[in-house]
Amino acid sequence: MQIGTDTRAVVTGASRGIGLALASALGERGARVGMIARGEAELKAASEGVVGASALCADVVDRDSLEKRIGEFREREGEVDLAIANAGVAHYGPYRDLDREQAERMIEINFIGTLNLVDAVLPAMLNRGSGHLVVVSSGAGLRAFPWAAVYGATKAAQKAFAEALRHELSGTGVSLTSVFPGEIHTSLHDHERDRMPDWYKSKNAIGPEVVADAVLAGVEADRREVHVPRQVRLLGLNDLFPGLVDRLLVLLRGGASAPRRY
Ligand SMILES: NC(=O)c1ccc[n+]([C@@H]2O[C@H](COP(=O)([O-])OP(=O)(O)OC[C@H]3O[C@@H](n4cnc5c(N)ncnc54)[C@H](OP(=O)(O)O)[C@@H]3O)[C@@H](O)[C@H]2O)c1
Repeated sequence: MQIGTDTRAVVTGASRGIGLALASALGERGARVGMIARGEAELKAASEGVVGASALCADVVDRDSLEKRIGEFREREGEVDLAIANAGVAHYGPYRDLDREQAERMIEINFIGTLNLVDAVLPAMLNRGSGHLVVVSSGAGLRAFPWAAVYGATKAAQKAFAEALRHELSGTGVSLTSVFPGEIHTSLHDHERDRMPDWYKSKNAIGPEVVADAVLAGVEADRREVHVPRQVRLLGLNDLFPGLVDRLLVLLRGGASAPRRY
């Protein structure tokens, strides 16, 4: 699909970070954008800075309220052409210390929230025979890292779901692109900056606008996958050569990225 003035898009997690960069990039192309997040004041302020945007305050875990907000957007703007499942949270730390409620909340927001967005838009896309879904996973979904066991699992779950769904949608006019960002400069880890694992290198982080541009180009080219930065793709080698990827990571990220190999 081509993104332009007749595109109607919804983006979850759009009040800041990658989601806000996506909404802004869509707005710049003239699209009508429904921006979804929980925090009402932050979302409203963010949407006021994006051309053609409206704030749809909802928790992606709350299926009814998500569908209701998207229904209101649909009544105002028309059917959704592009839906981006981007909302996500992270809680890092050794699994044995991870609070069980936080772990379950991550699974709900990152994975169930993705299903909820797809459920809210896919039936109408299939009826019209057109539309595009985007699932924002992570490099951590390609190779899970120590201290991110549950986060990595939610991202791998998104990857598997999106991969199968893209195949299932063959011939329907609806497509799907999976996105695998590396370290991006956002507020994702702001609540845990003082206890990030040693392999995490925030100085390498790139701007969320770079992700947004790559995603929109990926949608327009109907790419199966988008990796930003491109070298994130190498983490996919882990399925075939885990020892090699461990060695590579130790070189680039230090021993904390693969302590078991010794
Ligand atoms: N930053 C990175 O390095 C990185 C790398 C790889 C992948 N990713 C993925 O990229 C996505 C976006 O992350 P980000 O880095 O942009 O994070 P961020 O700056 O923390 O933004 C997260 C956004 O999601 C929203 N959100 C969180 N929980 C939600 C819920 N239950 N319902 C609706 N909205 C919710 C937040 O708003 P409210 O809190 O107000 O709801 C906010 O708008 C996530 O899926 C993340 O896993 C990020």
